[in-house]
Amino acid sequence: MILTPETLEKIETTIPKYPVKRSAVMTLLHFIQSEQGYISNEAVEWVAEKLEIQPINVLEVVTFFPYYRQEKLGKVHVRVCRTLSCALMGAYKLSDDLVKQLDCKMGHTKEDGSVTLEYAECLAACGTGPVVLVDEDLFEKLNQPGTVEPMVEVIKTRAQSEAAASE
Ligand code: FES
Repeated sequence: MILTPETLEKIETTIPKYPVKRSAVMTLLHFIQSEQGYISNEAVEWVAEKLEIQPINVLEVVTFFPYYRQEKLGKVHVRVCRTLSCALMGAYKLSDDLVKQLDCKMGHTKEDGSVTLEYAECLAACGTGPVVLVDEDLFEKLNQPGTVEPMVEVIKTRAQSEAAASE
């Protein structure tokens, strides 16, 4: 696995700060995700070897904490709030609609890397739920007629323009 010299140095200086090597697992994963955007299987193996533990011990940390992602983040990041207020206002139906309209499985990134669709916990807009965060832009009251389509248009336009910019 290729990491920048800066990340490697942080890793090398961090491990001795822990009384036992294996305790550095979350910090190492944090450094790697900051650089690579996600934790690949290769990263799991690498961290396990570095800390002299089994890959399953690393994988159980990666899969337990929602902070760690196992897929690269898409160019457009869509987060649907599913906490109580939004759930009661129709967040799950909204999620189903978005899965169909964006052709993206919930909790995943599309194969072309254009969109990541995920659930999020409370986005601090409980009075205007259900809400969706598209990158850093909040869309509210998405159970009202005519509110979802413009948001989907924004997502698709952003995904296309990002794709064009990276060509
Ligand atoms: S419950 Fe959705 S924003 Fe708070």
